[in-house]
Amino acid sequence: MNTIIELSYILAAALFILGLKYMSSPASARKGNLMAAVAMFIAIVVTLLDRQIISYTWIIVGIILGSIIGATSARMVKMTAMPQMVGIFNGFGGGASALVAIAEFFKLSQNSNLPMDSSITIILGVIIGGVTFTGSFIAFGKLEGFISGSPVTFPLQNVVSALILIVMLVLSVYIIGWEANWLFFYIIIGLSLLYGVLFVIPIGGADMPVVISLLNSFSGLAACAAGFVVKNDILIIAGSLVGAAGLILTQIMCKAMNRSLANVLFSAFGTGDMAAGGTTAAGDKSVHSIDNEEAAMVMGYAQSAIIVPGYGMAAAQAQHAVRELTELLQGRGVDVKFAIHPVAGRMPGHMNVLLAEANVPYNLLYDMDDINPEFAHTDVVLVIGANDVINPAARNDTTSPIYGMPILDVDKARNVIIVKRSLNPGFAGIDNELFYNPKTLMYFGSAKEKIQELVSEVKKL
Ligand code: TAP
Repeated sequence: MNTIIELSYILAAALFILGLKYMSSPASARKGNLMAAVAMFIAIVVTLLDRQIISYTWIIVGIILGSIIGATSARMVKMTAMPQMVGIFNGFGGGASALVAIAEFFKLSQNSNLPMDSSITIILGVIIGGVTFTGSFIAFGKLEGFISGSPVTFPLQNVVSALILIVMLVLSVYIIGWEANWLFFYIIIGLSLLYGVLFVIPIGGADMPVVISLLNSFSGLAACAAGFVVKNDILIIAGSLVGAAGLILTQIMCKAMNRSLANVLFSAFGTGDMAAGGTTAAGDKSVHSIDNEEAAMVMGYAQSAIIVPGYGMAAAQAQHAVRELTELLQGRGVDVKFAIHPVAGRMPGHMNVLLAEANVPYNLLYDMDDINPEFAHTDVVLVIGANDVINPAARNDTTSPIYGMPILDVDKARNVIIVKRSLNPGFAGIDNELFYNPKTLMYFGSAKEKIQELVSEVKKL
């Protein structure tokens, strides 16, 4: 029996790793997701058979309730709300790991003193899990809008946070080195929950996706600690994979924004409220706006076109109309490509997921580094609801908050058509000089309607 269990765990671990590998490309991501789900199923079934389970009743109730809640919320959630959904799942993961560690503390410390190795992993599980739990709920609240997206700060915040960390450290050392004191343990639980709130509350809403990815990594580490607590190999492996993957993703996002993790966590950048309707920053500058017919002429008679999707395409759910436009243009002999910025939208791979859903062929999608040299030789760029990722201020304006962030060199193309509803800024909350560039044509309206109208108009050419 033991051999079967160990072999099943190895199979599950191998499938997790393969699943992650397949998830690195949009073409194979669904397969990777399925593989990881099968691995998790094997791991759960084997664990349920392996452990001396006293009663399956609560486990079955938990599985049924959890599955209903998970499946319903996954079906109902809007694509644009996916980051907060992932955030809340991380929170539950961290909370579950903390609960496992808490239960084990009370079990082991009933009669005798805790063994040192157990106490270390229990304390780690409680602290990381507790911070992840409350931190994720604050991140969820900021993205969902029931907590202000603005950074919330108060005097001596860093001092208070540092003090909390020191107290937690001292109490942990006491429990690990001397005795399993219940009062101290309760204080550690309370402080870790408080620290999660203080950790996320000063960070601006715009940076929440990065924070969620970091908390995802934390939830993996908490699960890993819980794995050591209950001595379960597959939980240790799965937890470390989540921990490492979350950390790598955090790093990729920071690099794409040209910011350090410390800058994201402590600089109070962006509010996250801007995309919902900030200021119109036209001032005395003028823009050239066009109608359907003009847009159709520029697009339909071009030889080469690059489409740049952004958050607005996701918000408007315009991806199917975009695929129709792509096929129509290709039918007219236009060479169509897509330029994908790594942080376009609101979550990693956001544009890839939407375009894949609409069956836009993967071979038309180009990463920033590959497509940037091509803009200068392109007749027209069609920007659909993207703003920050095409803002030349990132290249030219040393005072801009996004200065240094790599952008798509859209301004180098011969013509630029920008589809958006107004001159409002994007997530970073800053004006975009490109709107006022003489070669830019503003095609005002909501992305889905505008692209559908463009399709009808191109058909008439
Ligand atoms: P944004 O700069 O946020 O701009 C989106 C634009 O879409 C807005 O200016 C808005 O203008 C327009 N829009 C909204 N709804 C629309 C609709 N229904 N139809 C047409 N347009 C619509 O988006 P981006 O260029 O994709 O850049 C992403 C930003 O998010 C970056 O600042 C990035 O750093 C940040 N961020 C992303 C991530 C990830 S992982 N993707 C993580 C952290 C931060 P109107 O209101 O005028 O329509």
